[in-house]
Amino acid sequence: MKESVVKDHYIHNILPRNRVTDELHIGARVATEYLLAAMDLRPGMTVLDVGSGLGAAARLAATLYDINVTGLDLVPEFCEEARRNTQDERVSFICGSALAMDFSDESFAAAFMLHVNMNIQEKQKLFNEIARVLHKNSQFAFYEILAGTRAGEMVYPCPWAGRAEDSFLIAPDDLENILADAGFVIEKKENRRDFGLAAMERRQADYPEQPFVNLLENVRENRCAPWQYVCRKR
Ligand SMILES: C[S@@+](CC[C@H](N)C(=O)[O-])C[C@H]1O[C@@H](n2cnc3c(N)ncnc32)[C@H](O)[C@@H]1O
Repeated sequence: MKESVVKDHYIHNILPRNRVTDELHIGARVATEYLLAAMDLRPGMTVLDVGSGLGAAARLAATLYDINVTGLDLVPEFCEEARRNTQDERVSFICGSALAMDFSDESFAAAFMLHVNMNIQEKQKLFNEIARVLHKNSQFAFYEILAGTRAGEMVYPCPWAGRAEDSFLIAPDDLENILADAGFVIEKKENRRDFGLAAMERRQADYPEQPFVNLLENVRENRCAPWQYVCRKR
């Protein structure tokens, strides 16, 4: 999807609603805590949050693990909102594309990403770029929506895209080839479908809008599913 389409989508469809909740992924804080707990984060580490949105995960990671977190996001309005809501010197937000990061090689000791890849068609470029900015042997963990066995039947709009042509779901096997080519070894992977379904069902009344209704149904029908991976850069 063109980056201008992504920006437009989030500014007009998500930002007005999500100033209230500020975690733009299934399962909100519980899912973030689970992802971070799977990583080996130690105080003082310099960590990248790829596609940081409104900044909740970056703030939580800094608070829980006493690490320095840089959030990178494409949407300037998200970065501004994230900065406004952050009073932690360990956390900063930079506006830019994950496909061409303005960071030197090997500048981070770890990275995480939550619900971003669906917006990005150039997957190999994305994962190569993440690998580039990581130290050797460092961890990259993500909690992402991937294609399910019935991906062809996906119903839109979804929270990340208004139309099918703006959504780029990849199957786990294909993603794993891309990760390997980018130089990552998978340490752990987990289908988080059951967790995601339960989380969405619990909060169903708070999310009556069509994109959220469709997402729940898409996960129920195995058209897509949230997965968590922990990888290490070779
Ligand atoms: C569904 S939101 C998730 C935000 C955040 N990770 C969270 O879980 O709360 C997807 C985010 O990815 C960002 N994004 C999409 N494409 C991007 C790109 N090429 N570079 C950087 N950020 C991107 C969007 O701007 C948006 O903030």
